[in-house]
Amino acid sequence: MSNASIGISPVITIDRGTPTPLQEQIYDAYRAAILRGDLGAGQQIPSSRELASEIKVSRFPVVQAYAQLIAEGYFEGRIGAGTFISSSLPEHLNFFEHHVGPSARVFSGPRRLADRASRTPAANMGTSTGGWGAFGIHQPAFDHFPFKTWSDLVARHSLNPRAASLHQTDPLGSLRFREAISSYLHTSRGVKCDASQVMIVSGSQQALDITVRVLLDPEDSVWIEEPGYRLLRALLISSGCRLIPVPVDDEGMDISAGILRGNAARVAFVSPSHQYPLGSTMSISRRLQLVAWAQSSGAWIVEDDYDSEYRYGSRPIPALQGLDVNGRVIYIGTFSNVMFPSMRIGYLVIPADLVERFVAIRSFMDIFPPYLHQEVLTDFIHLGHFGRHLRKMRMLYCARRATLVDCLYAEFGEKIEVHGSEAGMYLTVTLPEGIRDTEVVERAAKIGLWMGALSPSYLGKHVRHGLVLGFGSTAPEQIPRAVRGLRSVLAEW
Ligand SMILES: Cc1ncc(COP(=O)(O)O)c(C=O)c1O
Repeated sequence: MSNASIGISPVITIDRGTPTPLQEQIYDAYRAAILRGDLGAGQQIPSSRELASEIKVSRFPVVQAYAQLIAEGYFEGRIGAGTFISSSLPEHLNFFEHHVGPSARVFSGPRRLADRASRTPAANMGTSTGGWGAFGIHQPAFDHFPFKTWSDLVARHSLNPRAASLHQTDPLGSLRFREAISSYLHTSRGVKCDASQVMIVSGSQQALDITVRVLLDPEDSVWIEEPGYRLLRALLISSGCRLIPVPVDDEGMDISAGILRGNAARVAFVSPSHQYPLGSTMSISRRLQLVAWAQSSGAWIVEDDYDSEYRYGSRPIPALQGLDVNGRVIYIGTFSNVMFPSMRIGYLVIPADLVERFVAIRSFMDIFPPYLHQEVLTDFIHLGHFGRHLRKMRMLYCARRATLVDCLYAEFGEKIEVHGSEAGMYLTVTLPEGIRDTEVVERAAKIGLWMGALSPSYLGKHVRHGLVLGFGSTAPEQIPRAVRGLRSVLAEW
């Protein structure tokens, strides 16, 4: 039980219009709260004087109700300490009420939900087991993050906030921050934009959500990568769109296959820099083909540039957005990988003529983004910490990736195929026939290895089984042991 709930009373509504005596109303409210599990064994309740003053009744009915609850064993008095919910109450009362989710309760009467909610896939579709440790995906090397510098900046902005920041209510986000981002994107990703086209959001996921609301109606067809990012898929299913899975190979999304499967698609969702989960980089010819198709068919391209900052072996490949001259690309980026995912800061780069519509839609979602981390990140970028951190992490991840690839080949030889190790913080290995990746993931989790399964990333029936292995948070000295652990799991097949 949390300290925050000490001495707090449940909601007690006193109805002076009913014939039910006051002490009975108080008694009923406490008894119901205990049976619901809102109050747990050992929890302190307010003194009769405090409660009487809170609910504006005389002390007498409160004292009577407390006496009754003590007599029936719901409350116990402790001399000198106060009155408590009886510590001898059966555990299952609390267990039942606290741990059985609302969905398991039986309510009567019609409970109609929107079609949108009913068709939305369950949140956990089992691709990642989500633990902290070797092979965890979407996990940067937190132990190398400059927390001292970061916390100094947080402290500076918390102690001396700029009045302009506290009052800023721009649905696009802080102008200083947007300027810093547009200049970073221009230099390092080849994105063509100015700050007026940048919208700060709560991670790429919110960017995708806003974009779908602006561009798509139910029944609209969209291209998605096959395999692809499952929370995008869930969002599109939820929005009632018709999903056209377009196969991905070593050159990224196969645009010719997309045209054959559904030329009338309204939007193509792609992750050209480091495709999730196969890790391929879209070739320049496919990029040009995609941009040409979008222009000729009047479609939009949504470029999810997730995991694009780290490229090993070759120069970073500019964003697809920079190739487009007709404002057909909505570009999405995030700080989740380069900083940490719980920061929840991402951004959209919106074609100039659509900015007003994006703002209109965003306004009723969360009005505008929280200011503090925008301010801190702006300084982090301006003072050069961001660039330094990126360079340092690129070298660190490059070494981790090389160790992982070497160990994988040393342990498994030709039995596995490694995909997408040229960029990002994860790579994917495809498994020999007959091995079910979801079972491997489950067994590996039992020995503290937290990888993702490839097959749930497919929409269609023709799936490949494989493992998505994060190396961002796995120290080089842990990698050989972790790969041996994986071999021991796979030895069961
Ligand atoms: C391809 C892809 N896009 C977007 C996201 C969402 O990232 P964010 O943390 O920025 O919301 C993820 C996260 O796993 C991802 O894998």
